[in-house]
Amino acid sequence: MIDSFADRYPATTFAVAAFVVSTIFLILFLTLCRKKSEPAHDPSISAILISGGRRGIGKATADHLLSLGYHVFVTVRKQWQYEEMEAAAKAKDGAPAPHPVLLDVSNDDHTRFAVIRVEKLLKTLDCNLIAIVNNAGINPEGDSMSEVYANGGTPKNVLADTSVATRVLQTNVVGVARVTRAFLRLIPSGGRIVNIGSYFGSIAGQAGLWHAYYECSKYALEGFSDNMRRSLRKNGIHVSLVKPGNISTDMNSFGESPAIVVARDVEHAISSKRPTSRYYPGTVKGMPVCIVCRIFEMLPAFVTDSF
Ligand SMILES: NC(=O)c1ccc[n+]([C@@H]2O[C@H](COP(=O)([O-])OP(=O)(O)OC[C@H]3O[C@@H](n4cnc5c(N)ncnc54)[C@H](OP(=O)(O)O)[C@@H]3O)[C@@H](O)[C@H]2O)c1
Repeated sequence: MIDSFADRYPATTFAVAAFVVSTIFLILFLTLCRKKSEPAHDPSISAILISGGRRGIGKATADHLLSLGYHVFVTVRKQWQYEEMEAAAKAKDGAPAPHPVLLDVSNDDHTRFAVIRVEKLLKTLDCNLIAIVNNAGINPEGDSMSEVYANGGTPKNVLADTSVATRVLQTNVVGVARVTRAFLRLIPSGGRIVNIGSYFGSIAGQAGLWHAYYECSKYALEGFSDNMRRSLRKNGIHVSLVKPGNISTDMNSFGESPAIVVARDVEHAISSKRPTSRYYPGTVKGMPVCIVCRIFEMLPAFVTDSF
């Protein structure tokens, strides 16, 4: 497919190659320039709330931030998960551990008690909430696709039931709104909001119709994050969108990078005095996410549609 494209459009192929090479050099240059400096907040009096922090990227981020001395609150959606995490924290006998907050991001009834719980924790630990990491997310379409592939089949090119769309958007988009709306008033000037998007927020259609709702949710998060970033500038709050590639977690059976690569970018978005608006941790089919996203965002549709 690529060969026939190169035969038909040699000049475009050269332009794409030049674009990819110059972007790789730009990324290398920017990475080398990213020096470690003093964190923007003192971790010992700073707390971070992570939605969906029991597994995957959320857990890796919680563990990483704890290791840097921050207080970490993670949301869990079931009472038994809350009790399990509380017991694990007690067993650690004062060693750093995440504090659970019962909050299913798709459930309005949880919000009020979650805010009360966080306010109590802040008081007891004598610290400020300096960041929210909106990480909780689901991908039921991806789960179904993995199941079909595991059974040796090929997913059909059809839209999933609209009940799937409702669930996905309720968690991945409205859930971000629910958590941000509930806790924003606790975030001081200089605080951070970090939304976990995806490279699927730049690429739609590569996995067929079957994956459309997850992609819609991550595109929505692009606009939502841009709005938050520009709107909250006047309150001194920085907003970053982290767009991971294929990360090895329960959600992604095609993972290429460990979740810690995302955690390190979340750390930069929270602790740097100059956080960037977007981060691109990991790879997709071996290619840095930043390049993959830029190719799809910047090249004309007649080029990207032929991939
Ligand atoms: N893995 C990747 O390759 C990849 C790539 C790009 C972006 N992302 C994004 O990264 C984020 C984390 O994904 P992951 O790979 O770490 O997935 P994961 O391993 O499946 O973990 C998802 C986490 O979100 C929680 N969660 C789901 N629905 C929730 C709800 N309604 N309320 C509260 N918590 C909820 C889960 O809680 P339970 O334990 O209770 O289920 C779990 O802790 C998602 O936003 C995802 O879209 C992932």
